[in-house]
Amino acid sequence: MQVRRISAEERISHSFPLQAYAFEQSPAPAASADRWRDYLPYNQGNRTLVAEDGDTALAAATAIPMRQNVRGQLLPMAGIAGVATHPLARRQGHVRTLLTTLLGEMRDEGHSVSVLYPFRPSFYARFGYVTLPKRRSASFSPGDLGDLVRADLPGDVTWERMSTGYDAYREFMVRLARERHGLALFPDYRDARLRDDDERWLVTARVDGEVAGAAAYKVTGYNGELQVDDLLVTTPLSRILLLRFFARHVDQVSRVVAGIPADELPELWGTDLQVTVEGHTVIPNGNAPMARVLSVQKLAGITVGPGRVTVEIVDDPFIEGAFTLDGHGGTLEVGTGTGGPTATLSAAGLSALVYGVLDPAELPLRGLGAVPADAAGELRALFPRLVPYVVADF
Ligand SMILES: CC(C)(COP(=O)(O)OP(=O)(O)OC[C@H]1O[C@@H](n2cnc3c(N)ncnc32)[C@H](O)[C@@H]1OP(=O)(O)O)[C@@H](O)C(=O)NCCC(=O)NCCS
Repeated sequence: MQVRRISAEERISHSFPLQAYAFEQSPAPAASADRWRDYLPYNQGNRTLVAEDGDTALAAATAIPMRQNVRGQLLPMAGIAGVATHPLARRQGHVRTLLTTLLGEMRDEGHSVSVLYPFRPSFYARFGYVTLPKRRSASFSPGDLGDLVRADLPGDVTWERMSTGYDAYREFMVRLARERHGLALFPDYRDARLRDDDERWLVTARVDGEVAGAAAYKVTGYNGELQVDDLLVTTPLSRILLLRFFARHVDQVSRVVAGIPADELPELWGTDLQVTVEGHTVIPNGNAPMARVLSVQKLAGITVGPGRVTVEIVDDPFIEGAFTLDGHGGTLEVGTGTGGPTATLSAAGLSALVYGVLDPAELPLRGLGAVPADAAGELRALFPRLVPYVVADF
């Protein structure tokens, strides 16, 4: 068995068939190869590794070179996707080998963090990943927003197909990614699929000519649902402009269902708004995203609080070692060496703190490290809790 990076063209013969078998209805119709060829441009800059025996691909895994906001800094992020093993070659260690090689190569290329959507979180927990919050959905009747229908607001909305509005939408997403912790951005070549597929309407809220909120959505039918992927807003005004737009669908759809970050509180959006907020995690195809740190040194510069601690990272091929983390200047400084309050952490334990999803006191309870009380206090000050909102789905 050898591990090899395949060329763009080889995806058609080596990785797409394994992915199609794993994730799609199959056997695939004969025309699949044409469909896959159309899909190649959206994969052009990805790194795909296969484990092969002679000419036969036994397993494949892909990394998408993305960017992600981690505590205020847009960091190079490896988005892992298309992990699949040939049905006759499963449980032989191929994905363990592939993933370890792939993450090492992405780390060496400068990717300091990684995100993926697991089929089973415990599988990727063993690779140092920790679970991030899943987006919630808010569902309400547009009739409940009746008092907004005629509201006079200092702003406009633009309504168009995604293919027309894409450039403004992408520019807005890039701006949002500089502000919102956890938000992940595809590279241009991958994101362009949203424009080319043209399967969404786009409504944007504009204030003083600038996009301040956006929602990509589809309508399932007359008296059906208006389904918003993510309700992306930057201000209360941009949110109410979008809600007024939805309110004007009162005689067209029965429900608006909108993706929202886990810390959003839609019951506060209006008076008499009856809203259902839901979040489900489902194995294997509806899990929350997971993330991990691939380089501790490259976290230098993220916004942190005033703590100072030594962390000893254990049992990890990428970030094992001792580091001093100091936040007294307002941004993270990373040094080497030991001394002072010290915590022993797994890669997932450190990742949980960096992303802000677990308290230091939870780490020993979850088997993610040993954290004495003095180190817990410093870590808590250094990495205050945050709610990451990944948005990108892959
Ligand atoms: C899930 C899948 C990719 C695993 O690939 P694989 O080559 O069989 O995995 P490996 O043999 O390298 O297993 C790696 C480790 O995970 C364990 N593991 C494998 N499948 C597992 C599962 N379903 N649940 C929990 N652990 C699992 C193995 O025991 C092994 O542990 P070890 O290294 O400590 O011995 C493969 O079964 C598959 O293609 N499934 C269908 C598609 C899919 O779900 N892909 C994942 C998308 S995120």
